[in-house]
Parts: sequence; structure tokens; C-alpha cells
Amino acid sequence: MAGAGALRAIRWALVDHRGGPNVTSVQTGRVTPTAGPPQPVRARRKEALVSTAPIDPTGVPAWAGLREHAEQLEPDLRGWFAEDPGRAEELTLTAGDLHADLSKNLITSTTVNLLTELAEGVGLPERIAAMFRGDRINVTEDRAVLHTALRRPAGMQPALQIDDQDVDADVHHTLEQMYDFADQVRTGRWRGVTGKPVATVVNIGIGGSDLGPAMAYSALAPYVADGIEVRFLSNIDPADVAETTADLDPETTLFIVASKTFGTIETLTNARMARQWLWDELSARGQLASNNRARNRAVAKHFVAVSTALDRVAEFGIDTDNTFGFWDWVGGRYSVDSAVGLSLAIAIGPGNFADFLAGFHTIDEHFRTTELSRNLPVLMGLLNVWYVNFLGAESHAVLPYSQSLHRFPAYLQQLTMESNGKSVRWDGTPVTTATGEVFWGEPGTNGQHAFYQLIHQGTRLIPADFIAVATPAHPWQEGDVDVHSLFLANFFAQTKALAFGKTAEEVRAEGTDEAVVPARVFPGNRPTTSIMAPVLSPGVLGQLICLYEHITFTQGVIWGIDSFDQWGVELGKDLATQIEPAVNGDEEVLADQDASTRSLIRYYREHRL
Ligand code: F6P
Repeated sequence: MAGAGALRAIRWALVDHRGGPNVTSVQTGRVTPTAGPPQPVRARRKEALVSTAPIDPTGVPAWAGLREHAEQLEPDLRGWFAEDPGRAEELTLTAGDLHADLSKNLITSTTVNLLTELAEGVGLPERIAAMFRGDRINVTEDRAVLHTALRRPAGMQPALQIDDQDVDADVHHTLEQMYDFADQVRTGRWRGVTGKPVATVVNIGIGGSDLGPAMAYSALAPYVADGIEVRFLSNIDPADVAETTADLDPETTLFIVASKTFGTIETLTNARMARQWLWDELSARGQLASNNRARNRAVAKHFVAVSTALDRVAEFGIDTDNTFGFWDWVGGRYSVDSAVGLSLAIAIGPGNFADFLAGFHTIDEHFRTTELSRNLPVLMGLLNVWYVNFLGAESHAVLPYSQSLHRFPAYLQQLTMESNGKSVRWDGTPVTTATGEVFWGEPGTNGQHAFYQLIHQGTRLIPADFIAVATPAHPWQEGDVDVHSLFLANFFAQTKALAFGKTAEEVRAEGTDEAVVPARVFPGNRPTTSIMAPVLSPGVLGQLICLYEHITFTQGVIWGIDSFDQWGVELGKDLATQIEPAVNGDEEVLADQDASTRSLIRYYREHRL
């Protein structure tokens, strides 16, 4: 356990992995200053990284140190805070506008030192540099990982080039295209086939082509222009398309078909149904001639696409002039800041979208240039490793005290679990430790009245991130009561209760009947991180998303996994295609199924009205 003032006395290990005109060696992580004007950053050839096997974290001396430390640790947040009045200050970090208090975690200075040694031991600084440089660190898909390039400001030096692509030029060209289109829609210059301006934008996409823009659209509702509504159609359940289009006016609806691959069955099915709906509705009003030319004209005015697969977009019938591209080095779950954010850019406007991107970039720079021991995404990622691998946590709660962030946990589920839910490492060998924990959550205070019981008094360790902003979007008063203050009193109270609990003596002192004292004791030492920001602006939202992107990356590097592929989603997709004929009555395909699947399909066929 740390002694009084010990945390303040930590000699934080300094690891300089700054980028800029310096060059960081993949092998050593050392930074060599270069003379003269900045040269474009060039990615390393893929061979270098494919042959770089992950470093087994369990072989790094700090791993054994952490094991021993965990065995000896007697969590005592009450005692630690009492002994060390500087603990909160010492363990509060700032990154951009984010103010993160890590002091209510089950950590001492020894934990933090060992964790940063572990990060150095597995080469985290080198991996960070490799990602920003555009090396092909997505080994199983043989791709660079450059979502960070999507938010590089124009003119940032040194310029970024991978293979023969001028990445900065391409990114900013697409942004200009998006901003121009967003302006046309917002100002009513973009007209539907009958000459009316757009009132509703429907984003058709799933996974990363849905969750990011949908989450950001609700988070930034106060920034959405009057007269523009965005809806999100994702599920192949026909209820989704039916309910999304039910009250829509075809003349004023614009569909954005967002799909990186343009091969996702849910999205293409929904897009075809939406196209049919458009044609049917316009025809029913006598506004569409029944010939292909008229139908194509309607599609051109009411459908645009976001994709990396222009050929497939054209095949679908969407004009490639109305297509917004991105690149294979942007993963779906890392794409809200690419053209996948087009619906958001239309809703909040180019200026706000640019602020959103600037927020990401602020945290990118923090992540890229800050020493490990003061690096917020690194430390939060390492804390997650601490809980998963040394204290046995299986899940992690994310609890926004912001109704606007109600979709944030769902968004994070794809980001974290599709990224780090893996059992093999990037070189194909089995992982050597437990990996990806389950992320889940709901906004406070709703969660308080549902599942917090288990977090406070259950038998499981559930680290939790509490997120809140100081200034509300809607500063309502109830009489003399500032309702946002009342709301945030809950935020402060919950993290306090989780950390410090309530002893049996305290319960007894309230005159509680002895028989129920045990049930009313709160053990405390339930770890939380509190993240606060001044206001939920586009910039702050960008910072928050980016924080979690890099937390996820940090964990993946420690575990040696490729956080950017998602092969685990493929088998179910293939089987759905194979099984579909059986569902629709093909007896031969039905006979090929296992007994359980066969009987379930039979049940469906018998009960389907
Ligand atoms: O099936 C998973 C997945 O590939 C996600 O990674 C992705 O975000 C989603 O499907 C949608 O993919 P696309 O944008 O190519 O339609």
C-alpha cells in the first residue's frame, strides 16, 4: 500500500515518443531529431510488421511484479485517501477539455509504475508511432490503421503519405465534398425530384455505419439545425424500415446509404426497400412516371452513398457523383469522423463537424506525444488491463450522466468488443492472457434504479467510468432547484458511495436493527473513473470518442491482438445465407442442419402466420 504522500513522490518514467519531424524507430522506439524541412511521414513496408511478433506481456518482468502486487494489495480507498491528501490531485489528468479523476481506482503508485513498465515492455510507444505513421498494423487484413488521419488539420506537417496516396489531400478533398453537400441540403439548394428541399435524412447503415452517427446525432441534438431531422435505419427486421418510413414524406426525404463494403446484407436490403418505398409513394401521388429514366432520376435526387466500394454503389444505381468515399485504412467502428458522419455533418453543419474533428485531433496529439504516465488513454487502457488480468474483472460499465449520451455505451460496445474480443494474437498465435471485457451501461440516473445494486453490493468487481458535463444543454429549474445540479449530485454521490461505502458501525449508528445491518453495509472499494468536461460540445464529443478509441488500442497492444479486424462476425453471416433456403421451405437444406437448428426452423415455419 502506498504511504502518505507516496503518490506525489512517484518518479514517473519518461518515455518520449513524440512524432512531428522526429522519427521514431519501430525497433527501439527512440526518437531521432531530423534536420531541415519536414519530410512526409512514410509508412513502413508491411513485411516489417508482419514479422514483428507481439511481445508476450506475461514475459515482461512487470507482469510478475503486477501479479505479486495484486496478491498483496489490500484495497483501502478510505485509508489511501486519508493517508495521502494529494491523491486526488495526483491522479487527476487533463487531456484537452477532459478532466479525468482516476483516484477512486484500486491503484497505488506501485500499480501505476508497474503498468507503465508493462506498456513499455510490450512496445506500446512503438505501436503508437506505427499506427500514426500508417504502418500496416492491421495485419490480418493487411491494412494500415489511419483513422487518426481523418482529423489531421489541413497543412499539418510533416505530410502523411502511404504507398502512393497523399492521405492529407484525399481526406480534405472528401471533407470539402461533404461540407459542400451538407450546405446544399441545409440551405435547401438540394432539391428532391419534385423540387422540394430535404426535411428528413435517413441514414441506412449498420454497425460502424450506424452506431457512431446515431450516437453523435443524439449527443449533439442542441446543435442540429431547425428543419432537419435525421433517422437511422439499421436492422434487417422489417419493423425498422416500416417504422422509420411510416410518417415520412417521400418528396422531402434523402437517404444516405452508408456501408464501407457496400456488401452488407442488412444495409443493401434496407436500401432496396427504401428505394422501392420511394418509387411506390411517389407513384401513388402521381409524381413518378413508370419508366426507368424517371425512377433513376428519383434515386439520383433522393439517394447518396458513403462507401469505399464505388463499383458496388454504381451497380446499386446511385450516381457516383453523389458518393462520398473513404479508404480501407478506416475501420467501420472508427469511421464516424469519415464520410460515414455525413448525416451528422448535415445535421450540425460543417463548422460544428470541423470542431468535432478538432476534438479528436486534440486527443490524438495527447496520445501521441504525452509520456505514458500522464497519458490519459494509455492509463485508462492500462487500468482496464489491471482489472481484467490481475483483479479478475469480466466487465466494465460506462455510465454517462448525460441523457444526450444515452447511445454512448452501445457505440462503445462495438468499438471495444469488436476490437478486443479476440483469442489469437496478430501473428496467429493464441493470446496468453484474458482479453476483451464486456462493456455495457446506461445513463445515470436511470441505471441507479436498475442495476447499480449489483455494482454496489454484488460479488463481482465492475470497474465503471462515470461521465458528466458541467453545463447542461437544457438548464431547467424546478422552483428554486437547478435540476442539472440535482442530477450531478447523484454523479458525485454514486462514485463516493462506490469508493468509500458504509461500514457496519456507520449503519448501526443510524439505529438500524442488528438483523438487517449486514444487508445495509456497503463494502466500498468499487473502482470508478470520473470523466468531466465543461459542456457536451462537438469538440468535447470528439475528444471523448477518441479517448476510448485509444484506450481500446492500448489494451489491444498489451494483449498482442489486432484490434482492427473482426473475423468473428463472419461465420454467422455465412450461415445465415446458407440457412435461409431452409427457413423458406427447402427440405434438403433443412435436413442438413443439426437437430436443434432443424427443430427451431420447424417451429418458425409452423408458427409463422
Ligand atoms: O459485421 C460487422 C461489420 O463488418 C462491422 O465491422 C461494420 O461496422 C459493419 O459490419 C457494417 O459494415 P459496412 O459498413 O461495410 O456495411
